[in-house]
Amino acid sequence: MQSDLVCFNPACRARYGITAVLYNCPECGGLLEARYDFGRPDAGKLKVTWRERRMSNAPLDQSGVWRYREMFPFIEDDSHIVTLREGNTPLLSAPRAAEYGGLDGLTFKHQGFNPTGSFKDNGMTAGVAQARRLGMKRVACVSTGNTSASMAAYASAGGLEPLIFIPHGNISYGKLAQALEYGAKTFQVEANFDRILALVRVLAERLGIYLLNSINPFRIEGQKSIAIETMDQRDWRVPDWIVLPGGNLSNVSALGKGLREMQCLGLIDRLPRLAVVQAEGASPFYEYMQAKGLEPFRAQEHPETLATAIKIGDPVSWPKAQFELETANGVVERVTEQEIADAKAIIGASGIGCEPASAATLAGIRKLTAAGVMSRDADVVAVLTGNVLKDPDYIYRYHTGELKAPDGSAIAATFGNRPVVVPNDAERIAALIG
Ligand code: F0G
Repeated sequence: MQSDLVCFNPACRARYGITAVLYNCPECGGLLEARYDFGRPDAGKLKVTWRERRMSNAPLDQSGVWRYREMFPFIEDDSHIVTLREGNTPLLSAPRAAEYGGLDGLTFKHQGFNPTGSFKDNGMTAGVAQARRLGMKRVACVSTGNTSASMAAYASAGGLEPLIFIPHGNISYGKLAQALEYGAKTFQVEANFDRILALVRVLAERLGIYLLNSINPFRIEGQKSIAIETMDQRDWRVPDWIVLPGGNLSNVSALGKGLREMQCLGLIDRLPRLAVVQAEGASPFYEYMQAKGLEPFRAQEHPETLATAIKIGDPVSWPKAQFELETANGVVERVTEQEIADAKAIIGASGIGCEPASAATLAGIRKLTAAGVMSRDADVVAVLTGNVLKDPDYIYRYHTGELKAPDGSAIAATFGNRPVVVPNDAERIAALIG
């Protein structure tokens, strides 16, 4: 099947071969995306094939990404693919979180069930497959933690050398620990995510290292599977909304593309609306979209949030994100540190749990329902992007009332659950239990 890299800029649309090592269009500097000549596949047959693959023991069929390989047919030789059985993440209904969010019902698509605990695995298996297909030996990324954990695992599993660049002191220990354990050479740089990305791009070019940040179009291809698997699990019933946290804006770009392609191929009959939620201290995309085209996109110099995964001031994928939101009648919301912390505790108390960035979804839903943008009876899927154990330090501090926002102000333990220190004395403990 014909596949190309195409410039995303509508004024350019330059085309390049699928094996070109490019991250931006050499003509205009625009973002690139993979495009396919899908032909006219039989949507019904595809759905049956994908269902049947769930019964198969073949590694690619067991992957919740490669099971849907007809939707991203850029790899010609399957032997390049490294799968850790990514995807296969559940849809969980969460009545308590729904009530908090002002909804009758709410479903979480929990990407924290992935092999390295975040949605990055869906894209990384695809990016690493392309790296191997291109004969690359070393791969690199800058990361707020999850991309690096994921890249380290997939690169090491696939015999590539992972080089990781992270903002010193600004990622959670859980994520840093994963990168070390999965054998990545890890550089802690004294700069923020946006500055390090510029640095890594220079290094990648100079040293011939393959860049696996989400500017890499193949990462986006793999992440499309989050939308496809969600629809498959819902028997192709399209929700009214899909809600995502927004950092570098790869996920909304990927899910938007996946949904559009599914609609084109007749797999779904309409698009859900998309909602992206940013942390107030790192919300350049929110500000840009609020200005409704009257202001140019402006990067934020000093992004700040305790949800370090989305602490990004200059998200590379904003043009794609804008296009997907406009196509899907989407919205952007932003939420405070307190709102994220409280929403996270509610998701935890629902027995589900997630990392701080993921909880921005529920905090955003609460605001969108209060504002009447989202109706109480809407059918909503929110993507929880990372596992609860990614950032245990944040959790402990919240529940013990020690969590402080980046500006030093205290975050109230609204739903705090403090551990109780007790003597080794059955009588007194029984009295405390009551
Ligand atoms: N949630 C989590 C848990 C993340 O790790 C990220 C991004 C996002 C949300 C935002 O997703 O960038 O697609 O809008 N983490 C990246 C990283 C930047 O380096 O791990 P996005």
